[in-house]
This record gives sequence, C-alpha cells and structure tokens, in this order.
Amino acid sequence: MKATSLLESQHRKVEALFKKLQGGRSDTTAVLEELANSLAAHMAIEQELFYPRIKEAESDLVNESYEEHAMAELALKRLLMTDPEEESFQARVTTLRELIEHHVEEEEQELFPKVEKALEEQELAQLGKAMKARFDEMRARLRDRLEEAREQGLGDGSRAKQLFIEKQIEARVAVRYAIAATRLAELFAIQAIAIRNLVEARGERTPETVL
Ligand SMILES: [Fe+2]
Ligand SMILES: [Fe+2]
Repeated sequence: MKATSLLESQHRKVEALFKKLQGGRSDTTAVLEELANSLAAHMAIEQELFYPRIKEAESDLVNESYEEHAMAELALKRLLMTDPEEESFQARVTTLRELIEHHVEEEEQELFPKVEKALEEQELAQLGKAMKARFDEMRARLRDRLEEAREQGLGDGSRAKQLFIEKQIEARVAVRYAIAATRLAELFAIQAIAIRNLVEARGERTPETVL
C-alpha cells in the first residue's frame, strides 16, 4: 500500500474510535487505550519516516505538522489523566478530536496530494511498506509494555491507576522516541516528574493544569 493510503486508512480508524468514545459506550477504557496507542504509533511513523522523507519538498507544511502533533500529544496526555466519570472527560475528548480533525484535513487536502506528485509510485509503495512494518512493531511493543505494567498491578485502584497512566505515557514516549531518543524524550521525562510531583501534592485528584 502506498504511504499516503496507509496513513489515510489509519486516519479513518482513529475517527471511528473517536465516534465510539463519544457514543457513551461502556468499554470507554478499552476504546481510549486503543485510540491512544493508534495515535501514538501513527504520529510516530509520520515523524520517523514520512515527514523526514518529504521535508525538503514541503518544509512549511511538515514543520506545521510537527507542531500540531505536539499539541495533539498534549491533549492526549490530559485526556489519559482524566477519569471517564469526570466532568472534563468529554470536553477533553472533543478537544483532542478537533485538533486531530484539523490536522488530518491539512494532511489529506494539502500535504498528501503534493507528496503524491513529488514521489514516484514505487517510492510511495516502499515507504508505505516500511511505515506499516514500523507501525505494527510499535503497536506490539506498546501492548507488551502495557501488559507488563498491568502485571505489576498498576491497573487497579485510584493511586495505582494514576501510576498506570503514567506508565502508559512513558511507554508511548519510549516507543515513539526509541530511534531518536533526544531532547524531546528528556523533556517528556521532565514532564513525567512534574506530573508525578503534582499528583502527589494533590493526593488522588487529577491535575487540572499540569501541562
Ligand atoms: Fe500527522
Ligand atoms: Fe496523519
């Protein structure tokens, strides 16, 4: 599958997950986990493989995309720290959804058509293959890491749940920046410490303005 078609199909999957999440179903936690993993792996393959390949030809759009990913990641973190029962949960789902929708529209309407013109069919197919392999690998590693965290008993109870959420964030960051583990990963580590300190200072409550 060519790279742009692969990314489009992942966009559709994420949209379907948002719909489920806003439909008030009972399996919110499972849907949220699937959404977070899909988004993390999707943004990672774009940043590791897709954007670098096309940056020279489309530097403005690509630079903007990195910024939009950073915003989406922030909104995703805030959502992951929110209990589905809390009042702010749906507001955070909506905010993340709107950010993603805007970003996806720009990719599909502006960036992808230019990429499809700039690259040969064969190049697009090769890139798509590499991206799919990396996506699958990351999803598998995420599953393993989250499973490990669950086995350590981090999935139950209020305080334990908070720690589990932090583990999830750490796992996604670790997987995402496994190749280019640079300054950004350090920043996330600093953020993780800040989150932990804030959570501890506030007891069991979800931090409202931590990020
Ligand atoms: Fe993107
Ligand atoms: Fe995308």
